[in-house]
Amino acid sequence: MGTQVLPDAAVMEALLSAAVMAPSIHNTQPWRFRLDPVGQVLEVHSAPGRTLPLTDPVHRAQFLSVGAAVFNIRLAAVHQGRRPEVTLLPDPRLPGLLAAVRLTGPLAPDERTSGDGLYEAIARRHTSRLPFTGRSVPEPVVAEMTAAAHSAGARLHVPDFAGTRRLLGLTTTAEARTNDTPARTAETRSWLTAPGAVAPYGIPVTALGPPDAAGRMPMRDFTGGPPVPRPPALWFERHVQLALLWTGHDRREDWLRAGQALQYVLLTATARGLRTSLLHQAMEWPDLRSAAALPGVKRCHPQLLIRFGYGPDGGSTPRAAGARRW
Ligand SMILES: Cc1cc2nc3c(=O)[nH]c(=O)nc-3n(C[C@H](O)[C@H](O)[C@H](O)COP(=O)(O)O)c2cc1C
Repeated sequence: MGTQVLPDAAVMEALLSAAVMAPSIHNTQPWRFRLDPVGQVLEVHSAPGRTLPLTDPVHRAQFLSVGAAVFNIRLAAVHQGRRPEVTLLPDPRLPGLLAAVRLTGPLAPDERTSGDGLYEAIARRHTSRLPFTGRSVPEPVVAEMTAAAHSAGARLHVPDFAGTRRLLGLTTTAEARTNDTPARTAETRSWLTAPGAVAPYGIPVTALGPPDAAGRMPMRDFTGGPPVPRPPALWFERHVQLALLWTGHDRREDWLRAGQALQYVLLTATARGLRTSLLHQAMEWPDLRSAAALPGVKRCHPQLLIRFGYGPDGGSTPRAAGARRW
């Protein structure tokens, strides 16, 4: 175990700034941070008030989001020359304490940056809900994304044409079901923010994307239909590039690992010049989530669909400043 180094305020600030840039379901930012003054440990807690009771009743998507924030903390710690030791769910008596990050180090100069551009990608990554060009992503880049998921304790499957059609079909079914459930659309809509509103959470309407004019790409309709306006339909890429993030188990720690893997994949893609967006709708209906499992794979728990490719950047979304409590 490395020498413990007291984290100074600037280091902690850098860690928290990186953490909150993570993606989160509906931009709920379901995390809170606390510096344990005795152990010099950065604690990552769930934020009980920022949940989606209908969309995410077991908090799986919340854990994915928090896992993504933990991955950013790890990258920022290394960038600051510290070694992060992460313990997931460190105290069974505190179910809301999702991770503890102890900083040890300092790192040797050659350990400080890996030159992979991941830390720099944290601020550049945005969800892009716009049509992509359809240009094929080179195999080595896809292999890098797959390896990233694997090294973070999850799996990434890039389906062939038939598999892509199957997963898009399940997502289309999920999207239709959600839109037919008024309580669900009301919950989603409550996380949309109007232009000019000063709201630290939720998705500004400016970050929403259009529907697909061809009706093939089931982008999530956050508006729930009129009277909230949605951008006019556009033609999405015919050559859809999707990846299914999955895990071999489906426990709370697997969701946190999957969240870290998600962020590792998204940052790898961003660092290589790709855009990404997420399709989570099928994961929100248990039968459709099961149906999304890979045929022939014994233990496959689907966690999220990632759409990737080349195209325009997405709009930025706000982040709350007051996520810390010490
Ligand atoms: C678990 C999870 C599920 C998500 N599901 C969707 C989705 O179904 N559709 C979508 O457009 N965005 C989805 N997102 C993206 C969030 O809306 C986005 O991360 C958030 O609004 C913050 O914006 P940013 O990613 O540009 O920083 C999801 C994000 C996470 C972490």
